[in-house]
Parts: sequence; C-alpha cells; structure tokens
Amino acid sequence: MLRICTRTMVNVGMLYPYGLVKSCHLVKSVSASLVTGRYFTHQTGLPSLPVPPLQQTCEYYLSLLEPIVEMEELKRTKELVEEFQKAGGVGERLQRSLEMKARNTDNWSTGYALHYDYDSNRVPLVVHSNVGAVFPQMDFKDKDGQTRCAARMIAAVLDFKTMIDNETLPVEYMGGKPMCMKQYSQMLSSCRIPGLEKDSLVFHGKSSNPPKHITVVHNSQFFVLDVYNSDGTPLTVDQLYVQLERICNSSPEINAEPVGILTTLDRNSWSKAYISLIKDKINKDSLSTIERSICTVCLDGPIPQASDEMYNTYAGLQIMHGGGSQWNSANRWFDKTLQLIIGEEGAQGFNMSHSAADGTVFMVLADYVIASINRKKPEKILSPVVPLPKPQKLHFNITPDIKKYIEEAKQSMDIIAQNLDLRVMVFSHYGKKVLKDHKISPDAFIQMAIQLAYYRMYQRCCPSYEAASLRTFRDGRVAAIYSTTSASAAFVKAFDDPKKKNTEKVDLLEKAMKVHRWNTGMAISGQEVEGHLIGLSMLAAEEEISMPDVFTDISFHKFLDYRLSTSQVTSKSGCLPCAGPALLESYDMCYSLTNVDITFVVTAYHTCKENNAAQLIQVLENALLDMRALLAQSPRTN
Ligand code: COA
Repeated sequence: MLRICTRTMVNVGMLYPYGLVKSCHLVKSVSASLVTGRYFTHQTGLPSLPVPPLQQTCEYYLSLLEPIVEMEELKRTKELVEEFQKAGGVGERLQRSLEMKARNTDNWSTGYALHYDYDSNRVPLVVHSNVGAVFPQMDFKDKDGQTRCAARMIAAVLDFKTMIDNETLPVEYMGGKPMCMKQYSQMLSSCRIPGLEKDSLVFHGKSSNPPKHITVVHNSQFFVLDVYNSDGTPLTVDQLYVQLERICNSSPEINAEPVGILTTLDRNSWSKAYISLIKDKINKDSLSTIERSICTVCLDGPIPQASDEMYNTYAGLQIMHGGGSQWNSANRWFDKTLQLIIGEEGAQGFNMSHSAADGTVFMVLADYVIASINRKKPEKILSPVVPLPKPQKLHFNITPDIKKYIEEAKQSMDIIAQNLDLRVMVFSHYGKKVLKDHKISPDAFIQMAIQLAYYRMYQRCCPSYEAASLRTFRDGRVAAIYSTTSASAAFVKAFDDPKKKNTEKVDLLEKAMKVHRWNTGMAISGQEVEGHLIGLSMLAAEEEISMPDVFTDISFHKFLDYRLSTSQVTSKSGCLPCAGPALLESYDMCYSLTNVDITFVVTAYHTCKENNAAQLIQVLENALLDMRALLAQSPRTN
C-alpha cells in the first residue's frame, strides 16, 4: 500500500514540506502584530497558491483513504487512480489546465471553494453556513445597558474600519510569513445576495460612494442609521447611544410581518421570495439599504431564562440562530456579512456570513471590539451637542405571496432551531502551556484527543477535517487537514487495549501527532488533497469532459463525508467560536486555546439519533485527562 506521507516522515524525520518553517502558529493579533503596513501593497508580493504535483496528490489520497474505506473499496480506487494519472490520460490533461488556470488567476482554488462550499450551496445560511462568535458575558441586564453596549461595539467596529480603509491594520504573520489581508476588506459593507442557481457576494466598501450607514434591527423592524458626521468623523459612543435609543423608542412592538426571517430560508426559496420582493420599488430600496450597509446591528429581545452553568450554551444558540421565530430569529439579516448581536441580558457577539471571510479573521475583529469595550467604560452618556437626524425606518410592502414565504420561513426556522444541539466545555485542567512544556504540539495533541473521543463513543474512525489557513498565499482561504490517518487509528485502537503497554501507547501517540503535523505542513503549504481533487473535478465539468471515474467512486464520496469537522479559532479575549455541522450526520467542533485552558463548542443535529454533543464533550474531557495521565505515567523519550 502506498503511504507516501508516513514513509517520508518516518525515514527522513520530521521534515516540513516545501521549506516550511517548523512552527506554523497563526495570527498575531492586532495588538501583538509585528509590522504595520499597507496591506494592499504587501498583497501583490504574496506567492500564488501552487498546484500540487498530480502523482503526489494521488499517492497522498490513497494513503488518506486507508483508515476510512473498506479493503475492497481501496483496491478498486487504486485501479481508478492508476488509470486517472497514467501518462497521456485525463488526469494529466486536467492537471495542465489547472496549472494554466493557476498562472492566470490570483488563486485557482479560492473561486472553486467559494462556489462549492457557499455560492451554489442551497442550504439555509442560518446554522448551516454562517458562523458565530459569542462574547464573554457583560454585566448588564437591561435595555439601557444593552443600548450602551451596542453603541460601544459600533464605535469599535468603526475604529477598526478606519484601519481597514487606511490600510493601517497590521499585517499578520504565520510562521514568519506575511498573510493575505484581503478578507478584512470584504467583511464590512458587503452582503450575500440569493440567486436562483447560485448566490453572489456584493462588496460596496470600495465603490465610488462607499456606505456611511449601518442598519439596526429592533423588534424585527429595520432602521438606517448614518454613522458619520457631516465632517466625515464617525459618531461618538454618546451620539450612537442617543440614536439607538431613538430607534428602540420608535419600535416598541414586534413586527407582525418580519422580512428578516426570509434570510433563514433555504437559498432556493429565498431567491424566489427575493425576486418577488424586489418587484416593489420601496422594498427594493429598503433591501439595497440593508445590503449596502456597513453591518447590521441586532438589538435583541429577551431569550429563555438559563441557569448560570448553561449560559454559554444559551448565548451560543442566540448568536447562531436567535432562538426561533418567537424569539429573535427574525431580528436578523443572515445574508449580511457581519451582524453585531446584543441581547438584553448581557449576551452578545457576532454572526458572520462565512463566504466573505474566515472565522480567524472575524475573531481578530471580535477581540478588537472586546478590548475596546473593556478599555473605555463611560459612566454617563452625554447628549450630543448637535442634534442628529432621526434614524429612518425601512419600509416593506408585504404582498400575500411574501406573507406566505414569511410563514414558511417561520416554520422552517423553528425546525432548525429545535434541531441544533450545541454544547460548550471550558476544559480548565490544562492548556497550551502544559503541552508545550511536554514538547508537544498543542493542536496535534487536541486533534488526537478528539480522535480518541470519537473512537470511544462509536468504536470506529471517521473522516475528519481540520481547517488550516492558506493565507500565506494571495487570496488564500482554508485547506483541509486530515486528522484521521492510519497512525491516529493505530493510536486510538491501542489506547484502551489492556494488552498494550503504556510506553507503546505513548509511542503510537507520538507517531500519530507527527503525521498530523506533517499533514498540517502539507495543508498550509498548499499541498492538500481535497482542494486539488475538487479543482480537477470542477475543471472536468467546466471543460465538459465525462467525469473521471475517480470522482464518482464511493471512496471519493467517503473521503469528503466528514463526520467530524474541526477548527482552531483562538480568541485572545475569551470569545467562543461556533459553527453548525455542515452535514446532517456530522459534528462541528470549534476550539480556542489559552495557556491554561481549552474551550470547545460542539454542535450536532438532534435528528441524527446517534449524535449527542453533550456526550461527545464528556467523552472528550475524559480523553484529554487520560492522555495527560498517560504522559505523566510514561514520559516521552524525545
Ligand atoms: N514543542 C513545543 N512547542 C510547540 C511544539 C513542540 N513540539 N509544537 C508546536 N509548539 C508551539 C508553537 O510554537 C506555538 O507556539 P506559540 O503559542 O508561542 O505561537 C504553539 O505551540 C501552537 O502550535 P500548534 O498547537 O502546533 O498549532 P499551530 O499554531 O501551528 O496551528 C493550525 C495549527 C492548523 C491551527 C494553524 O496552522 C491554522 O491554520 N489555523 C487556522 C485555522 C483556521 O483558519 N480556522 C478558521 C477556519 S474558518
């Protein structure tokens, strides 16, 4: 059997592919960043994403299939791969086309990934595609505290926007290499627009008349709020507070026909409703105002009461979906790239449309906003000296047709809300420091703990994905790291086997982590398998050649059928990153590390009877404790 990655690693030692530096730790935050720079200038100097050699990808692919497909399936796939990559075959032809595409575009993979994962994906954005960041709980419990907090959040976003616009946002580095900063220019003044076959993303930040307003939604009613004074300065916190108060006072009742709920529909239904909606001029103008706005601010109503220990879970649900149609799910515009959500009881955070930017980029903004809120805490809000124009309400004419869509959206939203199983664990027994002291990669260790937890729960291994950043390349997004490998499978199978000695288990853990680090190196250096194979298959479709068997094969289907999708999105301010599972049968797991603890947010769907987020979290806690105990009992030799 081909085991190119494992063999290379074992024979040559811990080599990082393609000259990668050994540590690939990520994202120095704004405050900690090394260089302040004009990032659009720096942008042109970034390397473009390479196309991996075809033979390398084919061999790597077969090695990754080993722990997740049956022997017979692997045998058949090997034949198909051989046929695909043979000299003068279809694989070579597609590879040449892909290399040509790579020469002629900024990033050959990003367009495909956006098409595959987002634009042509018809599932609702809420829970299924958008991601969230839950801020640490603030100490207010009333409307006034909510409005003050919202004003401070908006002011901080506007400060951050100035850095984006002036290109003074410090360039981030990963493993000593500068990262692409383009996503920052996409996160504000942008919106996803539903389309009949595929959606589009519109960006207004660089237009000749860039937006100067945000939209605020309160009691499911939308308002336009200009956030710059006539001299071009952003409104102060005091000014924003007064304007938000005026919005709240003029919308005391919940809107009976809430258009915002339409953005929770699946994209086919929403695109049809959208076409119907924009036939009316007033509706069209209101939609355009929302879409062009810098961001949407959601001033939420109450949420169901939660005990203190369940606070994180309830806050996570509020940020991810708003609780259902009778709570805050209509108090949203899920197509908007950035929504600031501020609850009445001290819960707040971001809901983000993932197509414009990655979770780590949004988290930098979240950390900035939290630091800014914590820095300035004005005791008293002063009335602005110059009276400001009253924020205008956005009107919608609701036809019977749209009313039908709204009712449909309420029902489907309630099903989505009831279906999401979300649990948070703050694992405070140890964090990054203990692992680094053990000379262990914290990320690789956590990934192996996740593998062990899954195996203990299901007595099997599953295809698992970890997000790796491709932002050291121009226009780079994310690549897949395969956490389930033959080495990880050997480790998890041995861990609870009483016949195995501890030294043997430590040795297997060591090997599994080395393979994981190697896979990480491959992913962040642009040598991942998934993106390459998807690129080749999409080119086959574009060039209208019959789809090669290797892409219709059961193994390829299993390869992409991730039952565990994981991502490290570390926050410096204690924000919780959250995402919903991409597949009905899968788990999503986001985690954030500090020196002393690790926070996990696990999601699943209740309709998948064999999945249970609370149980997986419990098993994971035990796995992390048992693995540390193993290291304590049998220290590593190197
Ligand atoms: N001994 C001692 N220290 C070690 C070590 C070892 N063997 N291996 C790693 N470390 C250190 C690193 O130097 C780093 O130190 P730092 O905290 O001072 O920076 C730290 O441990 C963390 O390293 P590690 O846990 O190995 O992970 P990483 O930082 O290399 O991150 C990924 C790995 C995959 C998470 C990262 O490369 C990445 O791509 N993150 C982005 C994910 C993303 O985009 N998510 C959003 C998707 S929308």
